[in-house]
Amino acid sequence: MNRTALITGGASGIGAATARLLAARGWTVAINYRSRGAQATALVDELRQGGAQAVAIQADMLDPAAIVALFERVDREIGRLDALINSAGIGLPRARVAEFDAAQLSRLMAVNVVGVMMCCREAARRMSTAAGGRGGTVVNVSSMAATIGGRPGNSHYAASKAAVDSFSIGFAKEVAREGIRVVSVRPGVIRTEMTQNQLADPHFAATVAASIPIGRAGKADEVAGPIAWLLSDEASFVTGCCLDVSGGGFHIASAPR
Ligand SMILES: NC(=O)c1ccc[n+]([C@@H]2O[C@H](COP(=O)([O-])OP(=O)(O)OC[C@H]3O[C@@H](n4cnc5c(N)ncnc54)[C@H](OP(=O)(O)O)[C@@H]3O)[C@@H](O)[C@H]2O)c1
Repeated sequence: MNRTALITGGASGIGAATARLLAARGWTVAINYRSRGAQATALVDELRQGGAQAVAIQADMLDPAAIVALFERVDREIGRLDALINSAGIGLPRARVAEFDAAQLSRLMAVNVVGVMMCCREAARRMSTAAGGRGGTVVNVSSMAATIGGRPGNSHYAASKAAVDSFSIGFAKEVAREGIRVVSVRPGVIRTEMTQNQLADPHFAATVAASIPIGRAGKADEVAGPIAWLLSDEASFVTGCCLDVSGGGFHIASAPR
């Protein structure tokens, strides 16, 4: 049976890798993007050339009305939604708490937390068997940062992802008997557009590698695989938990500044 997924932040990084993997497995994918229209269109073209059905839909996670419109377009263009992958997310420049800027923090929380919650609301309204839906799976992309308060200067980002973890567990319990599974996936450091500038610094890259038990940063494909498994029937009893995809977590003592 053809299944359908909406991937927020799907034009790049972990979201794009997930779109490629799901499409290769026969899923129809809707790729949400904010500013990366050309990347989203190129990805859709690539997936269609591979025989998959795919659409790209613009929506800014900062805008609740745009999120509602995004799901309405999914309804019209791909129909029933089986899976939602919330991969859209942002970081902030490293800062000590004494340097925090309220507007930046509000934006961070609006994208990383409220945007995820609003997408989950729209998914619940469509997927819940109590509302006439056929169930589904939600994967929220969190971060290992949530487990350690972030690397130095990243407590703001870590807090936003800890909120995603806690929300995912609560949401999962709420809808567990309505056919919806919800899991938070916590990547460690992954080579994507989000981290490429930092990892281009050889000292930083080496220090990060040393801080990860497996000895290197991960690849987006290595997060997409576990996400695809979570969406599969093989994971039918997995919900309300966090899956670490992190090469073993952190050797805290050597975490870089
Ligand atoms: N890479 C890592 O080391 C790592 C580790 C742990 C967790 N994560 C999490 O993994 C997720 C994916 O990140 P990534 O590493 O794949 O980086 P990425 O390539 O930068 O992907 C993030 C995506 O989110 C989109 N996005 C940002 N703000 C948005 C908004 N307001 N509305 C809609 N889309 C928005 C971006 O598109 P635009 O630029 O067009 O806005 C981008 O496509 C994020 O939630 C991130 O926090 C990443």
